[in-house]
Amino acid sequence: MSSPPSKKLPVAVVGATGLAGQQFLTALANHPQFEIVRLAASARSAGKKYGDAIREQSGQSRWYADGELDPRFAALPVVDSTELQVSDLAAVFTAMESDAARELEPLYARTTPVFSTASAFRYENDVPILVPGVNLEQAAPLIAEQRRARGWKGYITPNPNCTTTGLVITLRPLHQAFGVKRVFMTSMQSMSGAGRSPGVLGMDILDNVIPYISGEEKKVEIETKKILGSVAGAAIVPADMKVSCTCTRVAVMEGHTESVFVELARAASPEEVRAAWDSFGLGANGFLTRGLPSAPRRLIITHDDPFRPQPRLDRDNEAGMATTVGRLRKDDALDNGWKYMLVSHNTKMGAAKGAVLVAEALAADGLVG
Ligand SMILES: NC(=O)c1ccc[n+]([C@@H]2O[C@H](COP(=O)([O-])OP(=O)(O)OC[C@H]3O[C@@H](n4cnc5c(N)ncnc54)[C@H](OP(=O)(O)O)[C@@H]3O)[C@@H](O)[C@H]2O)c1
Repeated sequence: MSSPPSKKLPVAVVGATGLAGQQFLTALANHPQFEIVRLAASARSAGKKYGDAIREQSGQSRWYADGELDPRFAALPVVDSTELQVSDLAAVFTAMESDAARELEPLYARTTPVFSTASAFRYENDVPILVPGVNLEQAAPLIAEQRRARGWKGYITPNPNCTTTGLVITLRPLHQAFGVKRVFMTSMQSMSGAGRSPGVLGMDILDNVIPYISGEEKKVEIETKKILGSVAGAAIVPADMKVSCTCTRVAVMEGHTESVFVELARAASPEEVRAAWDSFGLGANGFLTRGLPSAPRRLIITHDDPFRPQPRLDRDNEAGMATTVGRLRKDDALDNGWKYMLVSHNTKMGAAKGAVLVAEALAADGLVG
């Protein structure tokens, strides 16, 4: 007996074989609203079953996400991303390098919403960089502008660089409550943040810290101000703050750690800073009260234990969707200065599951399906 047709919204994942793509498969495996019906990647993988496409010549599987690969996905054929049909789909989730995204995402967006992890369109005036609970109010006006100016039925909404995500989640409530004037951030980023290809060589990273990640610091600086900015007409006015970063790579598999110094516009007590974080997204019309399937119960978890947060202990808090902060201290080198550490999961909230949560929110707002 054949099973009844699914009432879920059909979606595709592009770049499905990579680290972020695999996290899309995990995030969507038993999703109540979305169902993966197509998988795509480069010509290298096209024509193979997904389970074979992620297998090395030696036979070893390169499945890096949690749990076992779902047999339904293992059996799906991988389509060449240039030949992927999307007009009958409710959404396309993309996780490919920026050059490929620049070429392909506009083709998909002609008919279909594209939720992207790539940087290709992040810096365009009519494209919002969306972070769940932080700036979803930027979506509707800019999507309308994309549709008007580009003639698309769909749109492109990227999420930020994975290092920006935890930073803006912790800054947003501080900016709302006290104003943020200046931010200094040093990251200790995980190896998975570099992707699978070319990725990071074990010989380079073990017993080591790499003090430079090409292009990363500028991305975090620009994205933070755009995300925390405000919509004026059909564009975003970046937040009036200074952001300065140093981005490093460390021998951690998953989870970005960041050391943050922030100067506030007005004085705050430690209790007020804690309260701003603890209540973020909660309350009457808060993001966390919308009942979205991939939303965590808390966007920010705060620790008093000075030995937290740690990537191994804290990256999977709230299934990888919470940013964990600790070591909150007054900083006397800045006016109204505070310093803290954070840990954020780079391939979950920082990439695939974060993009799925954005799609859930936009679907609830009538912008998907
Ligand atoms: N890793 C993270 O923590 C993270 C976080 C946020 C954002 N991102 C962004 O997400 C994107 C993917 O990153 P990743 O870490 O998943 O990289 P990755 O592990 O190297 O995977 C790259 C993926 O892109 C596919 N691809 C390459 N060329 C393609 C093409 N022409 N058409 C379609 N697919 C193509 C690859 O397919 P094949 O297997 O066929 O080569 C693979 O599936 C990047 O833009 C990255 O900046 C990553």
